[in-house]
Amino acid sequence: MDASKGWLIYGATGYTGRLIVEHAVSQGLRPVLAGRNEARVRDLALVYGLDYRVFGLDDPNAVDAGLQGIEMVLNCAGPFVYTYRAMAEACLRMLVHYLDITGELAVLEGLHRMNDQAKRAGIVLMPATGFDVVPTDCMAMHLAERCPDGDRLLLAFGNFGSRISHGTLSSLLTRIGEPGAERVGGEILSRPVGRLLERIDWGARSSWCISIPWGDLFTAGISTGIPHIVTMTTATRRLHRILRLQFVFNPLLRLRLVRRFLQAKVDHKVWGPTHHELHHGYAMVYGRITGPSGTTVEARLQLPESYRLTALTAVHIVQRIPELKRRGTVGFLTPAQAFGPALITEIPACRYLEESTEARPAL
Ligand SMILES: NC(=O)c1ccc[n+]([C@@H]2O[C@H](COP(=O)([O-])OP(=O)(O)OC[C@H]3O[C@@H](n4cnc5c(N)ncnc54)[C@H](OP(=O)(O)O)[C@@H]3O)[C@@H](O)[C@H]2O)c1
Repeated sequence: MDASKGWLIYGATGYTGRLIVEHAVSQGLRPVLAGRNEARVRDLALVYGLDYRVFGLDDPNAVDAGLQGIEMVLNCAGPFVYTYRAMAEACLRMLVHYLDITGELAVLEGLHRMNDQAKRAGIVLMPATGFDVVPTDCMAMHLAERCPDGDRLLLAFGNFGSRISHGTLSSLLTRIGEPGAERVGGEILSRPVGRLLERIDWGARSSWCISIPWGDLFTAGISTGIPHIVTMTTATRRLHRILRLQFVFNPLLRLRLVRRFLQAKVDHKVWGPTHHELHHGYAMVYGRITGPSGTTVEARLQLPESYRLTALTAVHIVQRIPELKRRGTVGFLTPAQAFGPALITEIPACRYLEESTEARPAL
C-alpha cells in the first residue's frame, strides 16, 4: 500500500482534522479530504489543492461509495461513539484499513469486537492514534518490559498551558454523569470518577491528579495484559471534593435536557487551543508499574501540546501502516502493540526524562 495516495481523512474540517491535514501536507502526503458538510470540505480542500469527497454516515451505500479506491481511512469525526460503527463497517465491506483518534472506551471496545471480521477481511483496525493513547500505550509497554511481573499499572497525563477542544468536550459530554472506570482483575469495572487522588511528580513540576476513565484502561490491557490499571489526569483538590457529591448530581447530568443545554454552551463557547497554546503548551505522561513483591518502576515522558502531538502521531502512524501489511499483521491493534514502545520516541520533541533503571521497592 502506498500511504501517499488513496488515504482519506474523514471529519477533516474539525479542529483536529485540520491540524492533521496541515501536518500531512507538510510531510508531502496527499490525503483525500472528506466530511458531511460540502462547503467546509471543499473550502479546506481548495486551500491545500487536495481531492475531496462529501458524504454523511447515515447511508451505508453513500459511505461505501465515498471509500471507493481508498486504502486507508483516518476517522477524525467525533464524538466517535456516533461515527465509528458506520465507518468501520464500511471499511470491513470495502476492505479499507480503519484508523481514528478516539479515546472513548465504548468505541475501543466496539472496534475490538470487530477483530475477527477485520482479520478475515485482511484490514487493520487501529483506533486511538492520537495523544490518547499513543504515548500512554507506549509508556505502558515500556514499563511492562522493565517489570515483567508487574500487575498494577498507573498512567497519568497532563496537558499544560493549553485547553480542551470543542470535539473533546463534546465527547466528554456524551458520558457526563456516568460513572468512571478502572481495570480490576482484567475487567473494566465501574468506579466513581475521582475515586483516587494522588500528587503526581512530573519531573520539573507536580500536580494533583484524579482517576478518570480513559482509553488506556482498554488498550493498555490489550497491549500489556496487565490486570489492574488506573488512569488519571490533572485536577484541583476542589474538583476532587465536589466529585464526592457525584452520586447527587450525576442523575441530573444524565438528563437529556441538561446534556443538550451543556452541548449548546459548548457549541457556542468552546474553541481552540490557539496557535500560541499549540506551540507553547506541553504535555506530560507519568507511568508506574508495581509487581506482586512491591517492586515499582516509574517513568516520565515529555511531549508537545496534546493536539499538536495528535497530528504528529496520527500522520506518523499513517505512514507506518504499510509495514503491517508487509508483515501480514491485521485486525485490531493498539499503536504500541503494532509498532513497539519506541514508537513515541520516533515523534519529534517526545522524550523520556531521566529514569532509574533499577527497580526500587514501593513505598
Ligand atoms: N485521542 C486524542 O488524543 C484526541 C485528540 C484530539 C481530538 N480527539 C477527538 O477527536 C474528535 C474531534 O475533535 P475536534 O476537536 O477536532 O472536534 P470538532 O472541531 O468539533 O470537529 C468534529 C468533526 O467531526 C465531524 N462530525 C462530528 N459528528 C459527525 C457525524 N455524526 N457525522 C459526520 N461527521 C461528524 C464534524 O463535522 P461537521 O463540521 O459537519 O459538524 C467535524 O468535522 C473528538 O471526539 C475528540 O475527542 C481525540
